[in-house]
Amino acid sequence: MKRIFLTGASRGIGLAIAKALTGHGHEVWATSRDPARIPQLLRLHPARLDLSDPTSIDEGFNTALAEAGHFDVLINNAGGGHFGPAESLSPEIISDQFQVLVFGHIRLMQLALAAMRPRGEGLIINVSSLAGRLPVPFMAAYNAAKAAMASFTMSIQLELLDSNVRIIDLQPADICTPFNDAVIKSKDYDRRYEANLAKTWDAVERNIRDAPKPDLVARRVCELIDQTNPPPRITVGDGFQTKIAPLIFRFLPQRVRIWGLRRYYGI
Ligand SMILES: NC(=O)c1ccc[n+]([C@@H]2O[C@H](COP(=O)([O-])OP(=O)(O)OC[C@H]3O[C@@H](n4cnc5c(N)ncnc54)[C@H](OP(=O)(O)O)[C@@H]3O)[C@@H](O)[C@H]2O)c1
Repeated sequence: MKRIFLTGASRGIGLAIAKALTGHGHEVWATSRDPARIPQLLRLHPARLDLSDPTSIDEGFNTALAEAGHFDVLINNAGGGHFGPAESLSPEIISDQFQVLVFGHIRLMQLALAAMRPRGEGLIINVSSLAGRLPVPFMAAYNAAKAAMASFTMSIQLELLDSNVRIIDLQPADICTPFNDAVIKSKDYDRRYEANLAKTWDAVERNIRDAPKPDLVARRVCELIDQTNPPPRITVGDGFQTKIAPLIFRFLPQRVRIWGLRRYYGI
């Protein structure tokens, strides 16, 4: 049995992970901005945590740690997106995305590492996104934040030489969750973007609707937790998005990548 701190467990990927982990007998401290949204399940302990508020991050983690005694695993999963033309993104929107998807995740990783160090072992799974490598049009701040988190994760993987704390960058492709329902859309932008915004949103909605269910990610997380030497980075999703597209993408010149992604989103 492992003690696990999991953010963003009220729905989507986090909820599927919470159900799978508690089903496997693990004790899970599961967060939401409103803990009443966390279902009442055996071995599931609701916790309040808002990634946009640094105080709430420290309080949420430390309160749960005091209850749990220690954590074997941190799963940095919570997050949300913004949709709108990069040209007119306000500094507040960009900073909000980075607070939630980068600074909040980094703070939790540091808190977890500090608590795992004395025990000499632990596992941290940072849920970034394939969008950090294959960006989605009109989600520039989200794409950039996910790329930043992937880079930070790789940097810390380089540095953690004398430790049995493992860190994994888990990059989902499209997964069928209510993610798009919570996406905040820009209202103030140049109306010349209107047609391409609509085409891209259609593609984004279709992709997520037709995508694998979040249980796929949950199953992968359960496997990772049992591995002594887990891979530093994994992608989870359908075969085309996780295997074929990144492979082709790697060998293409940038001009062709941009052409291909525009075609993929119909713009
Ligand atoms: N679905 C996909 O296709 C996909 C693809 C690649 C990567 N991802 C990543 O996977 C993770 C989970 O996404 P999902 O698809 O499961 O999304 P989701 O269904 O919208 O769930 C998001 C979770 O994050 C929590 N959350 C959102 N904003 C938060 C904040 N400011 N502070 C604390 N918690 C917050 C939500 O909890 P409350 O609202 O209850 O607080 C919710 O439990 C995200 O990091 C996302 O970027 C998703």
